[in-house]
Amino acid sequence: MEKNGHILTISGVTKTFDGVRALDDVSFSIRSGDIKALIGPNGAGKTTLLNAVSGLNPPTNGSVLLEGRDVVGLRTDQIASLGMSRTFQLIRLFTINNATVLDNVLLGAHMHLKPTLFGTIFLRRKIKRQEREITQKAMDLLKLVGLEKDAHAFPGELSFGNQRLLELARALMTDPKMLLLDEPASGLNDTEVEEFTRLLMTIKQQGITILIVEHNMKLVMNIADDIVVLDFGRKLAEGPPSAICANPDVIQAYLGVQSTECGVPL
Ligand SMILES: Nc1ncnc2c1ncn2[C@@H]1O[C@H](COP(=O)(O)OP(=O)(O)OP(=O)(O)O)[C@@H](O)[C@H]1O
Ligand SMILES: [Mg+2]
Repeated sequence: MEKNGHILTISGVTKTFDGVRALDDVSFSIRSGDIKALIGPNGAGKTTLLNAVSGLNPPTNGSVLLEGRDVVGLRTDQIASLGMSRTFQLIRLFTINNATVLDNVLLGAHMHLKPTLFGTIFLRRKIKRQEREITQKAMDLLKLVGLEKDAHAFPGELSFGNQRLLELARALMTDPKMLLLDEPASGLNDTEVEEFTRLLMTIKQQGITILIVEHNMKLVMNIADDIVVLDFGRKLAEGPPSAICANPDVIQAYLGVQSTECGVPL
């Protein structure tokens, strides 16, 4: 970790698509252990920022320091192995070869299995034990997100909300230090949002730092330690929920009537 307690520091991040600036000189930091929310109108650049940070679509300019190390230019799997894991706004689950819900979580562990491929020839018993442990871990994570009973179902049989929870379980399989979540609560009903809030708090208590993109303001205001607001690719505001809620620029650009949701307990 960096000396100042920041796990992630984004500096001057700019991303252009065919000359159009989707991100324009965005800088902010995330304290280790915090839940930081990234909010803003449709098209503000939130997903583009997560893609830039996770290596999926690197920035045109700027730096992304994960525990002090610049990860710009590294592949997604390299960034994941440094402790950053993510979920997607458009769900990405495996359905080929009749992959089940459990298989999808197990796929999150492939990074940890790789070094043991060599051992499959010589150390069968060790591998068997590892497989058992990994399957147990995957089942524990499915239980954590409330999908234990669906372990042997196919992802397509789950509701969209539950498919997002499955993606979260898969992301946790890599033992991340940090999670990037892109609209994880979309598709959840009010009761499910409450459960999801508790789940995020449990994950936070495990010491995992979270950067969450979310339009559900009740959820954001209840869980975020800190918020950064994007508008037209630029940082409009940054601060604790109370200050963001009261910020006239943020109300004007994004919150609008939703500002009444600020501070309302779930
Ligand atoms: N691959 C791409 N090629 C061209 N333009 C893109 C690409 N990806 C994003 N953009 C543009 O960049 C801008 C930011 O898009 P982005 O998806 O990051 O917004 P967002 O804040 O995630 O919005 P939403 O809340 O709707 O998910 C938009 O104008 C979008 O059209
Ligand atoms: Mg988006």
